[in-house]
Amino acid sequence: MAAAPVTLEVGDVQGLVARGYGTLSAASFLLLGLDDEAAARRWLASVVDAITSGDERPGGRAVNVALTSTGLARLGVADDVLQQFSNEFVHGMTTDHRRRILGDVGDSSPENWDWGGPSTAPVGAALLLYAQDGAELERLLEEHSRLLVAAGVEVQRKLDTSDLDGFEPFGFRDGISQPFVERLSKSGPAGQTVRAGEFVLGYVNEHGHYTDEPLVQDGIGKNGSYLVFRQLEQDVRGFWRFIDSAAPNPAERIRLAAKMVGRWPGGAALALSPDRDDPSLSEANDFGYFHEDPVGVRCPVGAHIRRTNPRDSLDPGPGTDKSLAINRRHRLLRRGREYGQALSADAALTESLAPDEPRGLHFICLNGNIARQFEFVQDTWLNNPKFAGLYDDSDPLVGQSAPYGGTFTMPADGVRSRLTGMPRFVTVRGGAYFFLPGLRALRRLAS
Ligand code: HEM
Repeated sequence: MAAAPVTLEVGDVQGLVARGYGTLSAASFLLLGLDDEAAARRWLASVVDAITSGDERPGGRAVNVALTSTGLARLGVADDVLQQFSNEFVHGMTTDHRRRILGDVGDSSPENWDWGGPSTAPVGAALLLYAQDGAELERLLEEHSRLLVAAGVEVQRKLDTSDLDGFEPFGFRDGISQPFVERLSKSGPAGQTVRAGEFVLGYVNEHGHYTDEPLVQDGIGKNGSYLVFRQLEQDVRGFWRFIDSAAPNPAERIRLAAKMVGRWPGGAALALSPDRDDPSLSEANDFGYFHEDPVGVRCPVGAHIRRTNPRDSLDPGPGTDKSLAINRRHRLLRRGREYGQALSADAALTESLAPDEPRGLHFICLNGNIARQFEFVQDTWLNNPKFAGLYDDSDPLVGQSAPYGGTFTMPADGVRSRLTGMPRFVTVRGGAYFFLPGLRALRRLAS
């Protein structure tokens, strides 16, 4: 039986679910331990009225708060209530099973992480601060530092971000493709519009079910969203050097890198414009793969955007609504921010004597079900060497190297070509699963 539509309580949802705060180009994320229960409550009570909700359109600043399961426990949430949250959230990102499916091995293994791993103190909360410019961010940081000190809560780590004008450190426009969320975002094509329960707990999802009902009845889950945070460091020099070694000239270099991403640096999708970057298509996102490009002559099947969102090419029934319906169960709302300085392809290929400052992506995504959305995308699509009939490929931007991948196949009308021996260009430096509670729930936690 179809569930009756329920009004989405946008005013109770934290703002980050509704928007990525694109006009607030400066941001800092503070990681907090929340070791002391009374101090944690004092702090939360002191910030709760400043938290930005989904029905605000913040002009100059925005504040959101996310909590880990450790943080919820330290705020006094009883174990039986905590256990109603999903298993992956309760046990965290670094269990043996999760490091395997997420590919967190070698240099990326949690033992080496700067935060969120077993070698550092458990993270309890992330205070996400956004501002219209650097000066406003400084003021916001000062105000919040005062509140933290007054409550007696220590900052474990401050994660800075940088504004690269909409481009990620490899040099590609990012943040173009997002799902449309029913009753939350502006409307879009049906195939890309998902039900609110895919991102907000307490509403019907793409399976026609309410997400995590017991949790919602208890109140803490209602209007919340799971937030996945991964600090992904990008080896920009390594990326361009590898491409340079495989490309005879600069134009071919860009073409090869675009094949890996599935979009040109300016943003145009290869599925729409296979031969050149086209500024008029930089934001274009209404396309599929099955009819236009079934074997990937335009956009390789293993390209980053085709793996992370295969659109209409999934079984059963590729090219049909059935395929799109399956795809809608694995969408992510991406809310990441870059860090470090920009480095162009040309500069990346120039020898530098000074050691590089780290740069990368504070990857943040929201979902109603971490296992079915973020983990599925990462494991079954992004890291899978046999994705869509491939053999030992993995995601060319973020995937693993041999023996778990390291090949990138580019189908062509004539002979297909293949890059082999690709190193890993992204190293995980930290991460945790958070929950972004609704505002009423945060008030209850603070009281
Ligand atoms: C440092 C790591 C990463 C970089 C540099 C990167 C870069 C990009 C770029 C340039 C795009 C195209 C712009 C757009 O469509 O918005 C994109 C799209 C996307 N990425 Fe990533 N990405 C990274 C990590 C990830 C991870 C870890 C995931 C998921 C587990 C992911 C999921 C997606 C999704 C879902 C899209 C949109 C695809 C579509 O709808 O067509 N990305 N990424």
